[in-house]
Amino acid sequence: MAERETWTSRIGFIFAAVGSAVGLGNIWSFPFQTAANGGAAFLVVYLLAVFLIGFPTMMVEFVIGRRGESNPVAAFEKLGYGNWSFTGGLGVFSSLVTLSFYSVVGGWVLSYIAGSVTGGYFGDAGAYFGSVASGPVAIGAHLVFMAITIGIVASGVTDGIERATKVMIPAILVLLVGLAAWATTLEGATAGYEYYLSPDFGVIASNFGSIVPPAMGQAFFTLSLGFSVMIAYSSYLGRDDSLPADGGAIVVVNTLVALLAGFVVFPILFATGGAEGAGGGAGTAFIALAGAFGNLPAGGVIGFVFFAVLLFAALSSSISLLEVPVSYVTENYGVGRRTTALAMGAAIAVIGLPATFGTTWLDFYNDVVFNLLLPISVFLLAIFVGWVADREAIDELGRGSSIGSSFTTAWLWWVRIVVPTVVLMTLWLGLETLYEGLTTGGYF
Ligand code: TRP
Repeated sequence: MAERETWTSRIGFIFAAVGSAVGLGNIWSFPFQTAANGGAAFLVVYLLAVFLIGFPTMMVEFVIGRRGESNPVAAFEKLGYGNWSFTGGLGVFSSLVTLSFYSVVGGWVLSYIAGSVTGGYFGDAGAYFGSVASGPVAIGAHLVFMAITIGIVASGVTDGIERATKVMIPAILVLLVGLAAWATTLEGATAGYEYYLSPDFGVIASNFGSIVPPAMGQAFFTLSLGFSVMIAYSSYLGRDDSLPADGGAIVVVNTLVALLAGFVVFPILFATGGAEGAGGGAGTAFIALAGAFGNLPAGGVIGFVFFAVLLFAALSSSISLLEVPVSYVTENYGVGRRTTALAMGAAIAVIGLPATFGTTWLDFYNDVVFNLLLPISVFLLAIFVGWVADREAIDELGRGSSIGSSFTTAWLWWVRIVVPTVVLMTLWLGLETLYEGLTTGGYF
């Protein structure tokens, strides 16, 4: 087995994990899920999902990863439960499926950067989306996005990933703050903030069943949970790092980026017509925003900056989606990193091709990941750590940190009971969505 590369520092790890977490999920999916599900009401449920379910689940992956000290599949063997390895494998598989359509959306982002320069979407935002979201342009852009991702991963953990994320994450934060400051000057900004920030608890109560599954799915997705990524990344962590402190930093920064994206998107939407029509699926986000940019003074410049931020976020995630499967293969089968990155990247590009045929295919890929793979994977992880792993493994949570064993015990019970219950509920409701889409011909 080749010598394992490690993070050059704890900060390197945090940047890479934040880079994986901060992605299209924060800046594209979060604001538009919020718009589709009643604004502030969704925000409240989402924040609860992130902190009450997401954070404890991240600790589950960290415990397995640091204790297992290897790739997500072998980690279970090292812990002494080899027959649970399939759980790690499921996560790796989910990464592959996710990257295949993530990259298609990444390709759209590339086209929108181009459109900001050429003014392509200024006239008819809907038509522009139609021309870049499917067909030859979509295929070309998807391949370019995959090529960039492969290039970074092929250069390795410290050279490629650490360096890339250390530049991209600060850039994302600074640019988003700038955009949010600019957005305060828009007419209609107040109505946007109102919609975004003042929850109507009546709406939450009466739509509970329809808000919880997307909020949970979004919480897992945005924190990159259920994909074995956090298992893989934390396996490189030193014994004296505090898992809860590192995880807390990651969750907070990730949430901050999503919240900031809302502070950019909602004023823009309300300056040019409101949030209606912005919540109808993958494409409406691009159409609504690009339409707004087309109607604003200096909209091309603002659009360019916004889509550049989105590209950075997408890339910092796509590289970790590819990194985990690649490092698994390089470690286990002794194939070189470059060869593996190229071969796997090419396979993923092909798997993603159907998602360039039209947004219904993309929605299908998306729903399979959100409603099926993610909840199953998180459920298994919670059951494993909650009920199967021995106490010695559980105590990994407190190693290198000042938390006491009562905190660990409280967390353990939370992971035993609450997390699996909530996830099963989500899974059930998500399966209904998938089933309906398949039987009523919603997808194809
Ligand atoms: N968290 C990423 C986002 O919000 C998407 C994502 C999900 C991801 N799982 C992942 C990224 C695993 C890297 C690795 O866009």
